Amino acid sequence: MKRIAVLTSGGDCSGMNATIRAVVRSGLSNNLEVIGIQKGYQGLIDQQYELLTTKSVSGKLQVGGTFLQSARCLEMLEEPGRRRAVETLQEMGAEGLVVIGGDGSHRGAYELQKRGVPVIAIPASIDNDIPFTDMSLGVDTALNNILHAVDCLKDTASSHDRTFVVETMGRDCGYLALVSGIACGAEYALIPESAYDIDEICKHLLRRFQEGRDNSIIMVAEGAGKAQDIADQIKNRIGFETRIMVLGHYQRGGSPSSFDRLLAARFGVTAVEALLQGTSGIMLGLGCGAIIQTDLGKVIVGGRRKIDATLLKLAATLGI
Ligand code: F6P
Repeated sequence: MKRIAVLTSGGDCSGMNATIRAVVRSGLSNNLEVIGIQKGYQGLIDQQYELLTTKSVSGKLQVGGTFLQSARCLEMLEEPGRRRAVETLQEMGAEGLVVIGGDGSHRGAYELQKRGVPVIAIPASIDNDIPFTDMSLGVDTALNNILHAVDCLKDTASSHDRTFVVETMGRDCGYLALVSGIACGAEYALIPESAYDIDEICKHLLRRFQEGRDNSIIMVAEGAGKAQDIADQIKNRIGFETRIMVLGHYQRGGSPSSFDRLLAARFGVTAVEALLQGTSGIMLGLGCGAIIQTDLGKVIVGGRRKIDATLLKLAATLGI
């Protein structure tokens, strides 16, 4: 093997740059040339790529986002796009591909490996909804971003006896809202996986303020409701002055945490080693602290990763 390629696809997250760097440095240590594809699968279809050197990845480790850029590519859902992607890889002489992304990216990777391309996928999505890995790349940094924001909010909330509703990302998965709720001491974490009763929430908020608490924080995953709707319902029911914060894409950026930097290094290096060993069609993951491998075929039919029941129990025990 002489040459491999790497791309980032789907929604970006912190730690993608660190992973590209690990792939490049590990590739070069093994006498491989590494090609960076721009804008995910779109760059494969449009033939946008460049040879990466240690200089290309210098100073990128601590930077969020992805310098190769990313895209959600509709053409990869159809046969002509997939065929074009394979042709580009053949034309550039790439004998293996590392795909860093979420579930849509893994489906694309699966289609390429079915067409004979040796592919290793790396799970990257702040939602932590990818199956067969305890943690995806970017989740830990996103959680730290959320905590930083909520800690700031608590200061101002306490100064005004206010309730804040904080909306996190997570269209279909409440992991970020739940875990940040536990870690910041929120009163509630509303997630798409569990029903909630706004009347009960209001009664509890009233009780808290009657007991002399000076702030309340309600985390809500975007898939469980809009922060503004929940704030309006609270105001209409019990008259509380309720403010909101929609964290949006702020959660996805920023310098990766130490956890994500280490995970990026382990994923990137293992991906190159796997290609060199002739492994293909797998997604790497973190399982009980070790880097594990799962067949992509299994990953793409695995559905979304469910929130660990012990986390739900932990939250319930702590009164969230
Ligand atoms: O898939 C990750 C995610 O961050 C979701 O939680 C969120 O709904 C979505 O991406 C936002 O995507 P976009 O960047 O396309 O608006």
